[in-house]
Amino acid sequence: MKTTVFSTHKFEEPHLVAANRGKHELNLLEVRLTGITVSLAQGADAVSLFTSDDASAEVLNKLSAFGIKYIALRTAGYNNVNTKKAAELGIKVSRVPAYSPYAIAEHTVALILALNRKLIRSHNRVRDMNFSLNGLTGFDMNGKTAGVIGTGKIGAILIKILHGFGCKILAYDSFEDKMLIEKYGICYTDCKTLCAQSDIVSLHVPLSTETKHLINSDCIDHMKSGVMLINTSRGGLVDTKAVIKGLKTGKIGYFGMDVYEEEEGLFFEDHSDEILQDDVIARLMTFNNVLITSHQAFLTDTALTNIADTTIYNLDCFEKQIDSGNEVASN
Ligand code: NAI
Repeated sequence: MKTTVFSTHKFEEPHLVAANRGKHELNLLEVRLTGITVSLAQGADAVSLFTSDDASAEVLNKLSAFGIKYIALRTAGYNNVNTKKAAELGIKVSRVPAYSPYAIAEHTVALILALNRKLIRSHNRVRDMNFSLNGLTGFDMNGKTAGVIGTGKIGAILIKILHGFGCKILAYDSFEDKMLIEKYGICYTDCKTLCAQSDIVSLHVPLSTETKHLINSDCIDHMKSGVMLINTSRGGLVDTKAVIKGLKTGKIGYFGMDVYEEEEGLFFEDHSDEILQDDVIARLMTFNNVLITSHQAFLTDTALTNIADTTIYNLDCFEKQIDSGNEVASN
C-alpha cells in the first residue's frame, strides 16, 4: 500500500524499513503533517502519523479529498486526531496501543531520581571541577507517598517500581485495578486527596476534554509544599503557567516534564540556531529544579521495534481488508 509517513525521525527509520520488509511503498518524510504539508500525501492510500502531526478536521478534509482512507498512528495517544471527523469521512484510524509501557514508566523513574538526587546539577559541577555537595541534598524514596494518576498500562508498571522503592502509593483512576490493590497495597482515592497527600505526583491518564488542565492552580494549592510533579503523559494535562507560579512560590519543589502543551513544532527538532520564541518554556528552563526531556520517554530499542512492527501489521490488515472488499472497523 502506498503510504506517506509524516514526521519520520532518524531514530525510527531503520526500524520501519526492517519491519516493512519491502511490503508497502513507504514515502518517508521528515516534515510534520499540517494544513500546508498535507498536499504531500496526494497519490497515497494511507498516511502514518506521529505525536505532533496535525490531524484536525481541516487537515482530515484535505486528506479525504486526496483519497486517503487510512491513518496508521505510530503512537498510543490519539489526541492529535479528530476521530469524530475521521469516522464521518470514513477514514479508518489505527494506533499502537502498547509498545512498551516499561519504557515510559522507567523514564518517569529516571526523571524522579535525577530531580531528587540533583544529578544534572551534580554532573555540571563535577565537570567544572566543583566537588562541593552544598545544595545537592535529596530525599529517601523509601517511605514517601507517591500519587499515581492513571493506573493503566504505564501507571501499573510505575506502581510496581515505586513499590520496590518502599513508597506508599495513592492512586486515582476511573477504574480501580484490584490486582494493584492486592499486590502493591495501593489506595485509590479522589484526585484532590491524592494531590494533597503525595510527596510525588505522576501523571499517566490520556489527554481528553475531561483531563485537560487536571493539574491547575486550585489543584496545586492543595498540594504539599515542595511536592515533586512529573508529567510523562501529555502536556495539556498540566496548566503550565500555574506550574510556573507554583515553582516561583516553592509550592512545587521539583518538576519533571517529558511532554509540553505547546510541544508541536518545538520538540523532536533541532532549533539550536534559532531564537526561542516560547516564553513559557523559556521560563521553565531557568529553574534548576525543573528537568525537561523532549518527549523521549518512549525512546527505547524495544519500543521502536514494537511501534514499527505494529504499524506495518496495521497497514497489512488494512490492505487485506481492501483486497477482500471489506472495511476495517473504525478505531
Ligand atoms: P492506558 O489506557 O493503559 O491507561 C490510561 C488510564 O487512565 C486508564 O486506566 C484509564 O481508566 C485512566 N483514565 C482515562 N481517563 C480518565 C479520567 N478522565 N479520569 C481518571 N482516569 C482516567 O494508557 P497507557 O498506555 O498507560 O498510557 C497513558 C498515557 O501515557 C497515554 O494516554 C499517553 O498520553 C501517554 N504516553 C506518553 C508517552 C511518552 O513518550 N511520553 C508514550 C506513550 C504514552
